[in-house]
Amino acid sequence: MAMFYIFPLVFLLLNASSGILAGSSSFLCESHVAERGKTASITCRSSLDIRNVTVQFCSDSVNIICPKKSEINTYRRKYTSDNGRISLTLNHSAILNINEVKLSDQRNYKFFLEVDNNHGFLTEFLTVVATYTNPHVERHNDTLICTATGGYPESHLYWFENDRTNLTDKSKFVSEQDADGLFSLKSTLSVDSSVREMIYCCTLNNTNSFHESQGSSCITFENTITGKAQLEKTSNSIPIPAIVLVPILVLGTFIILLFLYRKKKGAFLSTVQN
Ligand SMILES: *[C@@H]1O[C@H](CO)[C@@H](O)[C@H](O)[C@H]1NC(C)=O
Ligand SMILES: *[C@@H]1O[C@H](CO)[C@@H](O)[C@H](O)[C@H]1NC(C)=O
Ligand SMILES: *[C@@H]1O[C@H](CO)[C@@H](O)[C@H](O)[C@H]1NC(C)=O
Ligand SMILES: *[C@@H]1O[C@H](CO)[C@@H](O)[C@H](O)[C@H]1NC(C)=O
Ligand SMILES: *[C@@H]1O[C@H](CO)[C@@H](O)[C@H](O)[C@H]1NC(C)=O
Repeated sequence: MAMFYIFPLVFLLLNASSGILAGSSSFLCESHVAERGKTASITCRSSLDIRNVTVQFCSDSVNIICPKKSEINTYRRKYTSDNGRISLTLNHSAILNINEVKLSDQRNYKFFLEVDNNHGFLTEFLTVVATYTNPHVERHNDTLICTATGGYPESHLYWFENDRTNLTDKSKFVSEQDADGLFSLKSTLSVDSSVREMIYCCTLNNTNSFHESQGSSCITFENTITGKAQLEKTSNSIPIPAIVLVPILVLGTFIILLFLYRKKKGAFLSTVQN
């Protein structure tokens, strides 16, 4: 008996979803990942000229919530928003231009698009990113502190030893978000000062391919308690004191031996002469 009730319901649901598809199939909106501070755009196209557009600025969440009022509305000749920072160009396509992209521009944009004898709704999500500063490593006794700031979305810092051993699990990581919404990352790694020389690398990239790419910084850890750590890009380094001291020692020894030999020879000669 239940079958008789389910059948029409399924049929109705299928019909409704295909109806939505048919209504919006002639419209297409596109955007690229936007970078904070730069310009971005969302372009909506149709096979026919787009005549009128309204755009609502909706929430960033999965459950899209849109305000009643549209920010852009060509019917009301409102082509700009946020004091002109965001503007619409109608040119066969509808192009929403965003200048000096802010993190708050990451959200859903609900477009109403009108062409001759047709219209459609399309919602496009704009993703915004901000690039982190290159990680900076500092040494405080037996602790290495790595920081990277000003990025979005939240990311992680990874540690690798020179032979590419993953030390990330031994580190302590914290991230903080500032008033602008940007993240500051900090990772602390305790190192063993009894180990003579090691290279530790801190990176934003968990693929440990940091040698070629940016987003990483390495530190050479030497067993000197007062010694200042040096930041370097290349791992090959001979300590400068060794280069200078070894030849001086060799030369000094040679001079002393020569002096002693001459003195001995001189003493021998004077004995013979007497
Ligand atoms: C929007 O549509 C109205 C008619 O409703 C038309 O007069 C107007 O020119 C259109 N706006 C644009 C920008 O095309
Ligand atoms: C308007 O369209 C023309 C031709 O389709 C194109 O060359 C031009 O760049 C467009 N203008 C804008 C502002 O997108
Ligand atoms: C290093 O350790 C010494 C003594 O343990 C301490 O006095 C000094 O403040 C430490 N330096 C840093 C930068 O933590
Ligand atoms: C991580 O490394 C991969 C491979 O080299 C690269 O494609 C990617 O852009 C890097 N990511 C970051 C955040 O540097
Ligand atoms: C290193 O370890 C971290 C934490 O366990 C992990 O997220 C990351 O993918 C690892 N990277 C590599 C290259 O093994």
